[in-house]
Amino acid sequence: GKTMPTSAALLEWYDRHARDLPWRIGPARIAKGVRPDPYRVWLSEIMLQQTTVAAVKAYFRKFTEMWPDIESLASADEQDVLKAWAGLGYYSRARNLKRCADAVVREHAGRFPQTATALRELPGIGDYTSAAIAAIAFGEAVPVVDGNVERVVSRLHRIDTPLPVAKKEIRAKAALMLDPARPGDFAQAMMDLGATLCTPKRPACMHCPVRRMCRALATGDPETFPVKAPR
Ligand code: ADE
Repeated sequence: GKTMPTSAALLEWYDRHARDLPWRIGPARIAKGVRPDPYRVWLSEIMLQQTTVAAVKAYFRKFTEMWPDIESLASADEQDVLKAWAGLGYYSRARNLKRCADAVVREHAGRFPQTATALRELPGIGDYTSAAIAAIAFGEAVPVVDGNVERVVSRLHRIDTPLPVAKKEIRAKAALMLDPARPGDFAQAMMDLGATLCTPKRPACMHCPVRRMCRALATGDPETFPVKAPR
């Protein structure tokens, strides 16, 4: 049989099965080389930090209607932003959202910096969010690792080091796997796989595009990964 790099199999699946989410631009425009708006990527990733995709959708639509770009958010009243955020929780995220918009407008002429390292300097943007924005909005070849991606990678490579010690190893594997031509799609494909098929319990391995490359499936125990340190 033919073998394919894991990233190629995953991206082929993503091109057919990507979730249609309001902050994504869709396969047709991606194929034309269009990139998503950094403002919308940033806003969605901040909202998704401690909140589910299902809950974020409506808030994302409301925010982008009220404040369609970074300038409008920077000139918004903080109280109005906090009011619109009500229900999403973790209000420090909303305060940092406003501070970050102010910083991008005042210190970066209204344009987000284009690398994970530079994005990391902005208020409310940590390791995960800086990598996500750099990969998805600017095509930087950096690994983007959230909980879903940790699960997918630890299963594919059968990483038996317990979390959180395994985090470095997982990042390194993700960096080796990613397709430098499509780092943002690769990241979101991993997230979609983790959310829809490579689930914590009863993963749907039969439908998985990378089941042939999965070392945890090969040994019959994908559910046991990632291993967690006893608490
Ligand atoms: N969770 C965090 N970021 C995401 C994204 N860009 N797509 C889907 N799920 C996500």
